[in-house]
Amino acid sequence: MSGGISVTGLSKTFGQGLIAVDGVDLRTPKGSFLSLLGPSGCGKSTVLRMLAGLEQPTGGEIRVNGETPAELRRSHHLGIAFQDSALLAWRSVAANIRLPLEVAGIRPEPGVVDDLIKLVGLEGFDKARPAELRRRPPGQAPLRADHPAAPG
Ligand SMILES: Nc1ncnc2c1ncn2[C@@H]1O[C@H](COP(=O)(O)OP(=O)(O)OP(=O)(O)O)[C@@H](O)[C@H]1O
Ligand SMILES: [Mg+2]
Repeated sequence: MSGGISVTGLSKTFGQGLIAVDGVDLRTPKGSFLSLLGPSGCGKSTVLRMLAGLEQPTGGEIRVNGETPAELRRSHHLGIAFQDSALLAWRSVAANIRLPLEVAGIRPEPGVVDDLIKLVGLEGFDKARPAELRRRPPGQAPLRADHPAAPG
């Protein structure tokens, strides 16, 4: 199985002829870190959406570690960190973190969700809703919950 990302002749045309991506070729070694840079509207998100299987290419081929985007999704071999927070307002911090696991049908190992909450500095706020968290000035703890004891 060939490693890394392999994109060949990737194209995407929206609607009656808006060419968003036109013949993109891309190779990355396995385990490497890649940034896509370019002016707004040049097609960066469209390429990423096709890599993630969220958009169908109109031409070309994509393989990630030898798998097609559809296979990556089926085997849960691909993760996405969205540009915006993409949180569900009515779910608690812990329930938002659990959401992608629930969608994938994965039961988290005990302590995994608590570890992730700790990782982002939200210890003690697992039952808070996103709207109850506030951004803090630089130098202070980044977030706090107005009602840390709110039901989750
Ligand atoms: N679902 C869609 N339907 C029609 N046109 C679209 C769609 N998604 C993107 N486009 C168009 O495709 C082009 C590329 O958009 P894309 O979002 O990939 O750009 P981008 O490089 O990610 O821009 P930005 O830096 O602003 O995020 C733009 O002209 C955009 O308007
Ligand atoms: Mg974009």
